[in-house]
Amino acid sequence: MGAGKLAGTNSARRQDTIMVDHPRTPGLKVLVFAASLRKESLNRKLAALAGRLAERQGATVDLASMRDFDVPLYDGDLEAANGVPPGALEFRRRLQENDAFIVSSPEYNFSMPGTLKNLIDWTSRIRPQPFDGQHALLLSASPSLAGGNRGLWALRVPLEHLGTRVFPDMFSLSMAHKAFAGDDFADPALRVRFEKNVQGFLSLAEAAKHYPCIKRAWVEFLGEPPGAGADRVDPIDATS
Ligand code: FNR
Repeated sequence: MGAGKLAGTNSARRQDTIMVDHPRTPGLKVLVFAASLRKESLNRKLAALAGRLAERQGATVDLASMRDFDVPLYDGDLEAANGVPPGALEFRRRLQENDAFIVSSPEYNFSMPGTLKNLIDWTSRIRPQPFDGQHALLLSASPSLAGGNRGLWALRVPLEHLGTRVFPDMFSLSMAHKAFAGDDFADPALRVRFEKNVQGFLSLAEAAKHYPCIKRAWVEFLGEPPGAGADRVDPIDATS
């Protein structure tokens, strides 16, 4: 089934899919990854499904693995000696090459995995600060009834602090170990809801790409008096 065409849906709206008369976000580039290293990761399955739905909308998907962004534990001495490690530089490159990112993150102890926070911390040391002005959609999958949603509220905090526009609607897949039938959701109604969520995010990211009227400077204000030593500021890029 090609992008924009749905088998057997000439007029009637089927319950198990949403109407895609034409790809709505052609040309949009989206980085998609799961913040789990496990081969059988439920979040990896959810990320892959999000990627396929984004492709149906005409987006170009860059499906990444957390392994692509492997970094040591953050250590200021290591940074002073060697700079930012290759995994964080690779994450920055992929963020910059895409217009938006989708991350599906497990919830560990009501928060995000340490691996993801560690990657965000390393990457945030790069200047210009790579998260500023990014668009993010947060997903989670968990065998629990809460679907890992509490971890996403924790994940919002550093991303929003760093200037990423985190889409308000997050998607948390509860009972994720039972939710899939093959590569898709077993429940068609849930699939429709998920696709609408992804579509809403892509539409906003696309609008921001073509009408970049809400650009602003990123300032990390930690209470120090302003001055060259304390300022962590990325100015507005007047060329874009
Ligand atoms: C978990 N898990 C878990 N689940 C949850 O819903 N809330 C939680 O707070 C936690 N805490 C937690 C801590 C640690 C250290 C581990 C290893 C696991 C269970 C977790 O959701 C489950 O293992 C998922 O399958 C992990 O995601 P992936 O690897 O399948 O994508």
